[in-house]
Amino acid sequence: MCGIVGAVSARNIVPVLIQGLQRLEYRGYDSCGVAVYRSGGDAPGLYRARSTARVAELQAQVAADGLEAGTGIAHTRWATHGAPAVHNAHPHFSHGAGADASSRPARVAVVHNGIIENHDELRAELQARGYRFDSQTDTEVIAHLVDALYDGDLFRAVQAAVARLQGAYAIAVFHKDEPQRVVGARAGSPLVLGVGQARDGLPAEHFLASDAMALAGVTDQIVYLAEGDVVDLQLGRYWVCDRSGRPMGPEERPVRTVQAHSGAVELGPYRHYMQKEIFEQPRALADTLEGVEGVVPELFDGQGDQAAAAWRVFKDIDRVLILACGTSYYSGCVAKYWLEAMAGIPTQVEVASEYRYRRSVPHPKTLVVTISQSGETADTLAALRHAQSLGMRHTLTICNVATSAMVRECALAYITRAGVEIGVASTKAFTTQLAGLFLLTLALAQSQGRLSAEEEARHLKAMRHLPVALQSVLALEPQIIHWAEAFAQKDHALFLGRGLHYPIALEGALKLKEISYIHAEAYPAGELKHGPLALVTSAMPVVTVAPNDELLEKLKSNMQEVRARGGVLYVLADADTRIRSEEGLNVIRMPEHYGVLSPILHVVPLQLLAYHTALAKGTDVDKPRNLAKSVTVE
Ligand code: AGP
Repeated sequence: MCGIVGAVSARNIVPVLIQGLQRLEYRGYDSCGVAVYRSGGDAPGLYRARSTARVAELQAQVAADGLEAGTGIAHTRWATHGAPAVHNAHPHFSHGAGADASSRPARVAVVHNGIIENHDELRAELQARGYRFDSQTDTEVIAHLVDALYDGDLFRAVQAAVARLQGAYAIAVFHKDEPQRVVGARAGSPLVLGVGQARDGLPAEHFLASDAMALAGVTDQIVYLAEGDVVDLQLGRYWVCDRSGRPMGPEERPVRTVQAHSGAVELGPYRHYMQKEIFEQPRALADTLEGVEGVVPELFDGQGDQAAAAWRVFKDIDRVLILACGTSYYSGCVAKYWLEAMAGIPTQVEVASEYRYRRSVPHPKTLVVTISQSGETADTLAALRHAQSLGMRHTLTICNVATSAMVRECALAYITRAGVEIGVASTKAFTTQLAGLFLLTLALAQSQGRLSAEEEARHLKAMRHLPVALQSVLALEPQIIHWAEAFAQKDHALFLGRGLHYPIALEGALKLKEISYIHAEAYPAGELKHGPLALVTSAMPVVTVAPNDELLEKLKSNMQEVRARGGVLYVLADADTRIRSEEGLNVIRMPEHYGVLSPILHVVPLQLLAYHTALAKGTDVDKPRNLAKSVTVE
């Protein structure tokens, strides 16, 4: 989704801005741009380049224009207000008010992540004051508002402007009259300050970014800005004020050394990141479980600002509330089955975007578990904060990014070690989340006195076997490719599962629709005759997840219901089930039966099915239309 990079330096900063955008590219965007203060030449002032193509094209534009400068801001945009078009791309300028404004040089430049909810009202107010709008974005109101409030001090103008904004924002702003200053502010969208070094006798340079990753290789000295902060970047100095305007010292806004990954991940022999990430799962699981010698609460000890000791928290809770979105939500749905059956803990799973606006009944002894690959998903963060505001202080995150807001804001954490996930369709993040959630189930079962030493040893042994088991599931790829050829001809698909595997059916359907654009729905198989059976014809492929568990016989009856209506079944059956391929019934046999860990393995053929179907259809696998990797706006 949208990305921000900004800098104040004594050297030419344009390559740093462009490189920062390149590091954020994988998150998805539909336009990009950069604005700088150019001091040399005939007409010093604000210049910008914008593009609806890739960042590489923007880079070529700035090179052709010979754009060089020490101060600048840059952006990748994922359209919310206004179509993806050059005039809507950031940075947005304000030329001031009045009929002749556009003939005057630009005064203010702004980039923005998030959504300004009161932009209509502000736009009307600014138009009445003589400001002309060149875009359909909500962002342009910020540029004009800062201009209207500017009295010679950009920091003050931004403080006054953000006080008028409702909604979510991370912004970076600069003004032509203060060419060595960039001011940033955040509320609801992430923003970090990168502290640079003084070099070659020049004063220290400073940076802004929506993610520390954008600054990899530039600085690893990061200040995470808090909600409502406004930050002032100048050559050789910076300062941060909180929402009330109080200056924040190094105690309150410490500089942390952050080893952010560079985002430059090689594809190696693979055609797409999604394919690479599917095949990385054995290693990702092995890494996630590395060092897990036994089930101990310390595995979940906190790492952020609110860090707590897990054993204390586990003793004080009697229920679990899981909050997440998309694929992460489905991993939570699997965990509900585990937590209730194995740990005996009542568990509720909620879509974060619904929970945050629902009047729910809080319970102080709840363990609130957020699940997120990125740790920056706006809805999940808001749901977490909502739960905290209701007095639920026991929070835990299962997250893939150790430096994310989610980890910082939760009392406890389990960091999955899936490695960087680039493909928009989440794969290895899901299976490693499941591994983390299974360990959490064991830890809570233990704290409830429901896990014997023998059971602990047996489950850990099964978990350690997962990487090997996954390898043999991946070897099913040729058979899946065969299925995918048939799916690529279809417009709709139905996915069925029962129990623990119902969320796996949901995840399989999400993967297929996300990247192949085939309409797919998932149902618990027992629900078939309550409605979806009406959709079943020979044109509707029905994928069935059929492990050899206590629900298998029930599932077989559901499969008969499909066959009797001429539906074509595609069944992922365990080795020891006696389901055989015949006319209208296609079976792929999983190599082993994996017991309660079976969801971690059954999802993999569904990932491959979605991948190969998309490949056969020729869609953009890693950057499916309209979707972004990290959903940092509501
Ligand atoms: C999965 O394939 C998706 N692209 C999406 O549903 C994703 O899981 C969701 O946006 C949540 O993201 P998070 O895990 O980073 O919070």
